[in-house]
Amino acid sequence: MTKDKVLIFDTTLRDGEQSPGATMTHAEKLEIAELLDDMGVDIIEAGFPIASEGDFNAVSEIAKRSKRATICGLARANYKDIDRCWEAVKHAGSPRIHTFIGTSPLHRAIPNLDMDQMAERIHDTVTHARNLCDNVQWSPMDATRTEWDYLCRVVEIAIKAGATTINIPDTVGYTAPAESAELIHKLIATVPGADDVIFATHCHNDLGMATANSLAAVIGGARQIECTINGLGERAGNTALEEVVMALKIRGDIMPYETGIDTRKIMNISRRVATVSGFAVQFNKAIVGKNAFAHESGIHQDGMLKNAETFEIMRPEDVGLSGTSLPLGKHSGRAALRAKLAELGFDLADNQLNDVFVRFKDLADRKKEVFDDDLMALVYQNDSGEDRVKLKSLRVVCGTEGPQEADMVLEIDGTDVKTSATGDGPVDATFNAVKALFPHGARLQLYQVQAVTEGTDAQATVMVRMEEEGRIATGQSADTDTVVASAKAYINAINRLLVRREHSSPGYDTKGVSYKDN
Ligand code: KIV
Ligand code: ZN
Repeated sequence: MTKDKVLIFDTTLRDGEQSPGATMTHAEKLEIAELLDDMGVDIIEAGFPIASEGDFNAVSEIAKRSKRATICGLARANYKDIDRCWEAVKHAGSPRIHTFIGTSPLHRAIPNLDMDQMAERIHDTVTHARNLCDNVQWSPMDATRTEWDYLCRVVEIAIKAGATTINIPDTVGYTAPAESAELIHKLIATVPGADDVIFATHCHNDLGMATANSLAAVIGGARQIECTINGLGERAGNTALEEVVMALKIRGDIMPYETGIDTRKIMNISRRVATVSGFAVQFNKAIVGKNAFAHESGIHQDGMLKNAETFEIMRPEDVGLSGTSLPLGKHSGRAALRAKLAELGFDLADNQLNDVFVRFKDLADRKKEVFDDDLMALVYQNDSGEDRVKLKSLRVVCGTEGPQEADMVLEIDGTDVKTSATGDGPVDATFNAVKALFPHGARLQLYQVQAVTEGTDAQATVMVRMEEEGRIATGQSADTDTVVASAKAYINAINRLLVRREHSSPGYDTKGVSYKDN
């Protein structure tokens, strides 16, 4: 059976990065874009160029480095945004401008435009974008709550003005599968010129239906799915790339559509996005959760041993998890480490391998067996060369006899500084020491500890979320010593807040860009 191609449009770096706390550094954005390009994503929405210098630079650089993927930037419905977007994406082999405006009654009220004024704005801005770039995507934000007649009218205007892709966003996650399919189907059947463009679906997950709604839209005629890795995104997130891609792959019998995604790269990018965004993947998350391929009950384990298909509809290898997991130990050498990392999907340059090898030896000295998950945590360790604050050493006194005390040395902007601080427990003492050495006004919003693998010598992954004047940043780190992991995660969050601070003078924060200028 020949299958229709469905384009995968990934917006992890734009809609995903918009989720509160998900801040990525410039280097991390470039790295994620490269992984997306390598895995076969058709269109990468790399950012919102008008939002900040940082976003503009990231989109430009991603455009320059792109290999196969089309690189897209977001722009509100005004010439300034569109020009800035073009300046950033024009370096790509295949650039795209994505411009949008909220068309539902609630969204029309924000820029205070009546229906005719908004229609004119859409005509003018799409025409402007098309004069710059021959690949233009247009989105009526909150399409699923826009009056049907008006939606048809504005979609027709955008097509006539030169849009090549029409995206129908379910901005607030309001629609349901049958309605999602019908909406796309009816638009294609009704709007003049609809056959000459690609219809896209962009679903949010407020009711937990984003993936189902996206797949239904494809059945209705959409040929582009907008999604993010791990479903990252505002509020409850977006359609998850891994879910739609695997659903299309496994249920090709009822959904005969194919994507160009190399699914074996899914697990690697999922883990990388979890680390750099600071949004850990829930254990029971479809496809990429830690438990997605774990079988605990006797009946399930017995069935699995006899025939894996009894309780699995896909193989772990299909998404890039190695089937067998032989742990490494302290006698394993560089070659074994390289081979294991290659098996896990990492192709490290020699200097990166050396760094990981040093960390591996250090871990293997403290831990009998180093499992795949331990190795991934090592590869993803967050000590970026861009960090202003670094942990040099930490010694903590804790136990039943208080007060708990932390002796700490930090390197701040290249200079070593040290202090001793007490606190209500070892973690509190540690955080107080950081605060004494690097005073800041950020508030701790979340502190979470998880074991990476089993056993009392398991590495702990610590996640810390901090807030300062409305800016939120998340830090993460892993170590066999929970207090050391906590210190590193806290410092990682501070470094990320410093990055946000640099790029957030008024009007220059992605999360602060108002849709009012539409
Ligand atoms: O959810 C939404 O409507 C968006 C638009 C900018 C496409 O993200
Ligand atoms: Zn969105």
